[in-house]
Amino acid sequence: MSTGSDGYAIDGDRLWRSLKDMAAIGATARGGVCRLALSDGDRQARDLFARWCEESGCSVSVDAIGNMFARRPGSDPQRAPVVIGSHLDTQPTGGQFDGAYGVLAALEVVRALNDHGIVTSAPIEVVNWTNEEGARFPPVMLGSGTFTGVYPVEQARGSEAADGTTLGEALDAIDYAGSAPMAADRVFDTVLEAHIEQGPLLEREGLPVGVVTQAQGIAWYDITLQGQESHAGTTPMEIRRDALVAAAEVVKAARAIAVEHGPTARLTVGDLRVFPCARNTIPGKVSLTVDMRDPDMQRLESLDELLREAASRAAEGEGVSIEVNRLSRTAPVEFDADVLEAIRRGADAAGIGHMDMISGAGHDACHLARVAPTGLVFVPCKDGISHNEAESAEPEDLAAGCEVLYRVAVERAGVARE
Ligand code: HGY
Ligand code: MN
Ligand code: MN
Repeated sequence: MSTGSDGYAIDGDRLWRSLKDMAAIGATARGGVCRLALSDGDRQARDLFARWCEESGCSVSVDAIGNMFARRPGSDPQRAPVVIGSHLDTQPTGGQFDGAYGVLAALEVVRALNDHGIVTSAPIEVVNWTNEEGARFPPVMLGSGTFTGVYPVEQARGSEAADGTTLGEALDAIDYAGSAPMAADRVFDTVLEAHIEQGPLLEREGLPVGVVTQAQGIAWYDITLQGQESHAGTTPMEIRRDALVAAAEVVKAARAIAVEHGPTARLTVGDLRVFPCARNTIPGKVSLTVDMRDPDMQRLESLDELLREAASRAAEGEGVSIEVNRLSRTAPVEFDADVLEAIRRGADAAGIGHMDMISGAGHDACHLARVAPTGLVFVPCKDGISHNEAESAEPEDLAAGCEVLYRVAVERAGVARE
């Protein structure tokens, strides 16, 4: 059954080539990838993905939020499919592997099944989930969240980018709004996702595969502070209502709350915009974002209260008004014990070292875990760096993770004939 020199069923060289071909779309001068959701780069990536899937004998369908499903038929079309996927959109200074690895490793599973002439009983579906990053259209994991019913389609289409473009406008502009059914009208046998760890643990342990048992909860906030624009030269310090000074207090408070509730609590202010943003005008308005994470739902709730209290104090101190709006909150997730056992079995059968771990990052698998038995497989990335153009991973590790996906998919879908 083996193809690759490593005795694997999958072809690691072909996977690596596909990753490099895909990384050429939106490639940045510093070796990263900028392929923001529903941009023209994302359209090109989607078109390439669809072409590869069709060349591999899959039929491609698209749902109302642009999620793409490439279906490889099984011998029993009535059986619920084994679904394997991730995302092709990236951060603005993203890397070549975050998301793309999970989509192309899933495609490699299909290509390897074709190589070996295997017909599975259940269909296999390879998925590209829309707008996982949330970097252009908040919140994070929006496509899989809409598919699983967390967000109504119209609300998701209304998500606005910083330039005012809505997700619906961008989706229609690249012609990727479809009518494929969503989770409410579908049953999945198993959902799998492979992803780079985006942290340092696997590399530190020298292991190629992580069996992800759970993922932490994520809450996203928009905070707007409204003070008073006025002349930088004529306005005495004591009567200013400077939105940026108050915002700075909020940023420091977010850090302090996370440190006080460490090591699990994580708060990040990743985007801060000043209006009117002129050197000689006191900032009248500031908008900032907070990304809050913790593996415990109880603690996420108390962190919410602490953030709101700190924000009110900061605003009061400067005499500005403040609005704290929680955009989304995804509860911590436990993945399916049977699927995790199948992942450990697959890794052991292939002689691939593995360890259990928790995911610090959110993934589409986190939403899917609420509608189907789901498992998440990690592979190491260099120095644990991700959401960074320097992101890199070793072909051997990427192949190992893909081989595990292949074995779990074959076990869960069943083999009708070889
Ligand atoms: O934010 C996340 O955790 C994911 O990388 N989008
Ligand atoms: Mn990702
Ligand atoms: Mn990411």
